[in-house]
Formats: sequence, structure tokens, C-alpha cells
Amino acid sequence: MLPRTSLFSFTTEDPSAFGVYLAAAAKEHPIYFDEGLGVTVVLRGAEVTAVLRDSETFSNRAYDIGIMKGALVALDGASHTRMRRIFNAVLSPRVVNRYEETIVTPVARRIVDRLARKQQADLVDDFAISMPMGVTSALFGMPEERIAENDVLIRKMIRSAMAPQDPVLVAEGRRAHAAMGAQLREIAEREVANPGDTLLGEIARTLAAEGLGGVEACEGVVLSLILGSYETTSWMLANLLVALLAHPDAMGQLRQQPSLLPQAIDEAMRWCSNATGIVRFVEREATIGGETVPAGTLLYVSLTALHYDEEAYPRPEVFDIQRRPTGLLSFGVGPHYCVGAPLARMEARIGVSLLLERFPALRSDPTQRPMFSTAPRGAAAFGPDRIPALLV
Ligand code: HEM
Repeated sequence: MLPRTSLFSFTTEDPSAFGVYLAAAAKEHPIYFDEGLGVTVVLRGAEVTAVLRDSETFSNRAYDIGIMKGALVALDGASHTRMRRIFNAVLSPRVVNRYEETIVTPVARRIVDRLARKQQADLVDDFAISMPMGVTSALFGMPEERIAENDVLIRKMIRSAMAPQDPVLVAEGRRAHAAMGAQLREIAEREVANPGDTLLGEIARTLAAEGLGGVEACEGVVLSLILGSYETTSWMLANLLVALLAHPDAMGQLRQQPSLLPQAIDEAMRWCSNATGIVRFVEREATIGGETVPAGTLLYVSLTALHYDEEAYPRPEVFDIQRRPTGLLSFGVGPHYCVGAPLARMEARIGVSLLLERFPALRSDPTQRPMFSTAPRGAAAFGPDRIPALLV
């Protein structure tokens, strides 16, 4: 079975349908050419993992253009290892835990307080998007009054980074980057001159210790983190809420036993993964799933099919918070494994536990059904167009 529609224009009312569909397609076609986007897609789990682990043959060079030039995710080899050390230092679980009380919990409280004035809400707008937006702005000291404007600019930049082959999106991303440039520079200058007790201060100090202390380097780190953290976390939160609202029993269990939340977060990332795929550039001719792929090919490496592999996850279409899934690809694998995973997990854990605590009657609005797609609101993610919920 060759995927009948482009991977990039899939729509469904059932969030598990995307994974089921891709896993079935991957059995017959570990790799195929997606006519819709004009790229070669690696679909099957074994090949996906092998490609992502071999950064010499399959590099991240495709990201190294436009606004992403020099970003961590665009680097390979020794330059990546060096920069990655800095990112590991500033985003280690130990460092990130410091922001639980100072940033993540207050932002989550503000959002939940705002929701408490309502009887019903769209939890995409009112929670999943607001939460990382608030955390990112607070972490980088971006002015609150610019959140809405920055939101639009950041989304344009992400869109361009995820579609390096699309000149229109790349140009839009450049314009958005230019529009945000002064703000990023101001943030970086302030912190390099006088590193505070914040994530930015941590970045400025770590860069200086590595002999890279300068406004440009600091600005680059901030940009990498903004681009990496923003939409990814929004759609992960959205899909976690979708999974819980669709499974009131699981929500009840989490209220009784909040210690299950971390594994419920992982299971939601398996059952309804927001991260659909990543881009790689073939440096030298290679064989993938029995097919020869010439040097210079742009690959789209799909992350979802493996999550529905029946051998690894029996009855994969079932959302089961007792499952403890391992080997997931939502945060990638290999040298570029997501450096922000501890922060993303913390945002999900704190945000959702406050939400469950504050709204004991939280449930789906039965009069509205969300539609899931691979481009919800134009994002490069799998997720719902909205999450209509009743709060009381
Ligand atoms: C649930 C939320 C998130 C998801 C699903 C996610 C997913 C990913 C994936 C799949 C990669 C690998 C990219 C590749 O191999 O080309 C990645 C890398 C990265 N992520 Fe995340 N991410 C999330 C949250 C975050 C957060 C909160 C931050 C920052 C605070 C962040 C920063 C980064 C950075 C800087 C990289 C590049 C790492 C490297 O190249 O070494 N991400 N992320």
C-alpha cells in the first residue's frame, strides 16, 4: 500500500488513524517518494532509526540555510558536539528544575486562572498555545505586550525552517527573523553585559566559559531554543489533552494517582505524536530499505509509524496510560536528540496537573468534534484544529 495522499495533507477525526495508516504503509514501503511535497520519505521504524543515528551519511545540512544557518540543529560533526555541550549544560534536568517554581508553575497558574472565568474553552488557544508561549517569553525576558506579535513571527520562522525546499516560506521566515532581530539582539546584549539568574544568564555564562561569549553567539542560542521549543510543545500539550479528554477513565486515574502523569505523557506522545518528521540530507549514496538513494537527496524522516509497530506496542491504537512506552521517536534519536525534552515534559506535567486539579468536571464538548491533520493551523505537526472542552 503506497500512502494514498501526501503525508503532508492527511486529515482524520480519529487521532490514532494517522499512526495506524503509516504503520500499514511502512510494512510495504519502508521508503517512498511523496508526490505531494516532492521529497523522499523514510517511513519504516528500523530505517528511520538507522538514518537518524548515522549523521555522517545523513546530515542536517538541509537546515543550514536562511534563518537556521548556524543553529544547533543545522550543525554536524565537531561543531555540533561543541555547541551541543553548551545546550546540554543550560537545559540539563538539574538546571531546568530550577524553573519549575520560578517560571513554569506561575505561567501555568496564570493560564488556569484565566480559564476559571469560563465555562467552556478551546484548549488549543486557551492552554496548549498559551503555555509554551508564556514560558518562552518568561525564560527569555520577552515583553508580555509583544507576545501576540512574536507568536506570529516565530510561527513564520518555524514554517520556513521546516520547509527548506520552499522558497516562499523561506523568504517569509527571513522577513520574520529580521522583524524580530532587534528584540533578540537586545535580549542577548543585556545578558552578555550582565548575566542574571535566568536561563539567558546561564547561556551567557556557559558561552563565555567556552570562549564563545559574544552577543551573536548568545542570539544564536536564543533563536535555536525559541524555534525548537515553541510549536513542538504546543502541539504535544494539545495531543496530550486530546488523549485524556477522549479517555475519561485515564483522566480519573491520573487524578487519583498523579505519579502516573509522566508515563501518560509518554503514552500520549506515542498514541498521538505531534512530531511527524525531520529532514535529512544524503551526503553519499546509500541504501535504505533495499533502495538506492543518491547523494544530494533530501529525505523526510517520518517519526510516527514506529509508534504503531504492533510488535513493540501491542494494540497500538489503544491509549493505555499503564503502558510505559520506550523507544519513542517523538524527541528524535541519535546526536540531535531533543535537548529541550526535560523542559517540555515539565511544562506538560505541571500544566496538566494544575488543569486536572482546578477543573474536576473537565470533559470534551460533545457537540463539537475536532479535526486532526498534519498541518493544524498551518503548523508542521500532527494535531487537532481545536479542542472544545467543558470546564464546569
Ligand atoms: C514536546 C516538545 C518537543 C518535541 C516533540 C521536540 C522534538 C524534537 C526533535 C524530533 C528533535 C530532533 C531534530 C533532528 O534530529 O533534526 C529536536 C531537537 C531539538 N529540540 Fe526539541 N522538541 C520539543 C521541545 C523542545 C524544547 C522545549 C526545546 C528548548 C527549550 C527544544 C529544543 C530543541 C533543540 C535546540 C534541538 C536541536 C538539538 C540538536 O540538534 O542537537 N525542543 N526536538
